[in-house]
Amino acid sequence: MDISHIEHLGIAVKSLDEAIPYYENVLGFKCYNIEEVADQKVRTAFFKVGDTKIELLEPTSPESTIAKFIENRGEGVHHIAFAVKGIESALAEAEEKGVRLIDKTPRAGAEGMTIAFLHPKSTQGVLTEFCEKL
Ligand code: CO
Repeated sequence: MDISHIEHLGIAVKSLDEAIPYYENVLGFKCYNIEEVADQKVRTAFFKVGDTKIELLEPTSPESTIAKFIENRGEGVHHIAFAVKGIESALAEAEEKGVRLIDKTPRAGAEGMTIAFLHPKSTQGVLTEFCEKL
């Protein structure tokens, strides 16, 4: 498959309002986008760090997978996202090589990206996202 770089790291937080000041005032990044992704029941905040971004994820409902993640494991790194060319064929290749997919078909993510997740049971515990700007 054709992966160019780490597109972003997803970090689960209880509150964007509480988390953003650390990234802005301590690390000196600028939050350039806050966006709600309704079907994932999250609000996201983005910071650029070179070619990579930090994506903060705040649950908007107790049913959100992010709410459940925080409940079970606390706040922290939630997933790693790779920028991939040809997301459909990358998914097919991963599946063919024995990786369990969460998303068999890519779906809409934040920032106009098409995204799909690989199951952490197949990736040594790292929830892995493929994303592509179409
Ligand atoms: Co992500």
